[in-house]
Amino acid sequence: MKKDTECVHGGEIFDEATGGMNTPIYPSSAFEYRGRKDVPYPRYFNTPNQRAIIEKLCILEGAEDGVLFGSGMAAISTTLCAFAGAGDHVVMMDELYGGTHAFATDTFARLGIAHSFAATSAEAVCAAIRKDTKVVTIESPTNPLLSVIDIRKVAACCREKGAVSVIDNTFAGPILQNPLALGIDVVVHSGTKYLGGHSDLCFGVAVSSKEKIMKILALARHFGGTVNAQTCYLIERSLKTLALRMERQTENAGKIAGYLSTRKDVTKVFYPGLAGSAGHSIARTQMSGFGAMLSFELDARNAKPDEFLRRLMLIRPAVSLGGIETTICSPAKTSHAKMSAEERQRIGVTDGLLRLSVGIEHVDDLIGDLGQALG
Ligand SMILES: Cc1ncc(COP(=O)(O)O)c(C=O)c1O
Repeated sequence: MKKDTECVHGGEIFDEATGGMNTPIYPSSAFEYRGRKDVPYPRYFNTPNQRAIIEKLCILEGAEDGVLFGSGMAAISTTLCAFAGAGDHVVMMDELYGGTHAFATDTFARLGIAHSFAATSAEAVCAAIRKDTKVVTIESPTNPLLSVIDIRKVAACCREKGAVSVIDNTFAGPILQNPLALGIDVVVHSGTKYLGGHSDLCFGVAVSSKEKIMKILALARHFGGTVNAQTCYLIERSLKTLALRMERQTENAGKIAGYLSTRKDVTKVFYPGLAGSAGHSIARTQMSGFGAMLSFELDARNAKPDEFLRRLMLIRPAVSLGGIETTICSPAKTSHAKMSAEERQRIGVTDGLLRLSVGIEHVDDLIGDLGQALG
């Protein structure tokens, strides 16, 4: 069936007792084990409500199995540590979500894991793979510069060199991009963003082959970052509208990127949907839509980012992204604040960069607000 239909029905548990339309909430954390094999337990990631979501997401991503985590970072850190240990090497793209970058720089050395950062291109990432490289981590489009990397090329060279390829698919989400079909081994998401979609949930997910999920699951059971049944129910409810939300948000983002590109007081617009943008041609081959995130830089001679943010009336400056409401942030002060100023400068996250997470409001109102704040 089509993804829109799978968002609504995939993985749902039929309510035999009442015929109700929704998966029942199974709140138990203790389950009788007599006569049962795979006894559910929340920290074993196998309760009915956890499995209902995993099944829906596996259908949407084209995966065999998955693990649902208490946050995106739990999914990322557990996945990386499941495939790399002391004495191993990990390749990471330098344009990664700030928290993933910080996890590598703060934690890998303590675990005896070596790592190197590669520039944002398939060629640079492939060239950084060494004999002892066990994992390669990429993002596409990236946070916050919306750079697009050739996923097929990265997947192929990881396979050839025997490294596990991991992609953070948070920005595109499973409706617009399915990296497993492009050859990637493991897909992770911060579900806190588009999958949740209403700025009221925090969770993460990793999906892959059954074999790789067994490895992630084994470590996840030790680390224990699990999700309760009530939250699972809200996640399932959110996922039912994922395709609809992505369609509207992507359409709005395309129009706003076009509008900002026409403004003389905006010096740069980063959006893979713009025909002249660096990642446009690759994005067309691996995404079915260009997503709802975009970034831009104001002409510093006319507008100071802080003043611009103060003048906005509808769009609110906020951390996080992917909600139905449009929000804006300064990555240098939020998602990438932990990165050193030199490192930010090197990868192009300037102090004047603003990142817009486009919601489902009417696009005329959003453009109106941006226009009045630009002046
Ligand atoms: C691309 C990306 N990956 C991962 C994360 C981390 O997710 P969480 O905050 O759910 O741990 C974020 C959070 O902003 C993100 O933007």
